[in-house]
Amino acid sequence: MSILDLFSLGGRAAIVTGGSKGLGEAMAQGLAEAGADVVITSRHLDECAAVAERIAAATGRTIVPIEADVSKADDVGAMTQAALDRFGRIDVLVNNAGVNNRDATLDLSMDDWQTTVDINLTGPLLCAKAVVPTMQKQQRGRIINLSSILGLVGHPARSPYTATKGGLLNMTRCWAIEFARDGITANAVCPGPFDTPLNQPVKSNPELYKAFLQKIPMGRWGELDELTGVIVFLASDASSYMTGAAITVDGGWTAQ
Ligand SMILES: NC(=O)c1ccc[n+]([C@@H]2O[C@H](COP(=O)([O-])OP(=O)(O)OC[C@H]3O[C@@H](n4cnc5c(N)ncnc54)[C@H](OP(=O)(O)O)[C@@H]3O)[C@@H](O)[C@H]2O)c1
Repeated sequence: MSILDLFSLGGRAAIVTGGSKGLGEAMAQGLAEAGADVVITSRHLDECAAVAERIAAATGRTIVPIEADVSKADDVGAMTQAALDRFGRIDVLVNNAGVNNRDATLDLSMDDWQTTVDINLTGPLLCAKAVVPTMQKQQRGRIINLSSILGLVGHPARSPYTATKGGLLNMTRCWAIEFARDGITANAVCPGPFDTPLNQPVKSNPELYKAFLQKIPMGRWGELDELTGVIVFLASDASSYMTGAAITVDGGWTAQ
């Protein structure tokens, strides 16, 4: 076996939640380019379907669009069943769907707090509960959780985001230990700023944008495909002895 074979995802099936845009779309494409068939989900089937068609045409893989809200257990159950019906297995779960909230802590409504917790923290838990039994039967699985640099360090006016992303990091470590004997790894990725729809409020505010740039030693935001290699690595056999890790992809933000 050559070293490159270790990175191949041929014959594997993946789920990418929030795969209709931004980082999720880029990661779904990367997994498909490495050989995986992929289910992509979001709350809008039309957007998922358009992305699925584009990635399938570009890669020749089977890409299945599913409408599913990760904060709803019934939707997550249906998403999991659809993946199994189509592929008969689930090798990779990328818990990517997420939202941000940038209200100052004293202005934050409890409804907005709860929505962020439901999507960013309860969502990944529901997805893991639905998918892990299949991975246990297979004695093989890769869970990749999209945390953030703001799961590692604080930021003003990000209470629900930092709390949920920090919580997701520690839940990743919990799963790493809990499922270690089942052939399942659980790792987290902590991106710095990437140019996605989630970050448009920062990108379109020159003052905020400049403040973000000043915090990045490399002096620039990440390009979407600068995350893809890490995701393919974590999804593949190349990372077989790695679990419970938090990988920063942040141009150096958290190195200082
Ligand atoms: N972009 C960055 O710089 C950055 C940095 C660090 C971490 N992250 C994390 O990376 C992940 C992706 O970020 P992004 O920037 O790509 O965000 P994005 O551009 O806003 O895309 C988010 C995706 O999640 C989906 N989504 C949102 N709520 C959902 C729900 N309840 N159920 C199912 N799907 C849902 C969205 O589709 P619908 O709204 O149509 O459902 C969309 O497909 C997030 O977890 C984010 O916190 C991003």
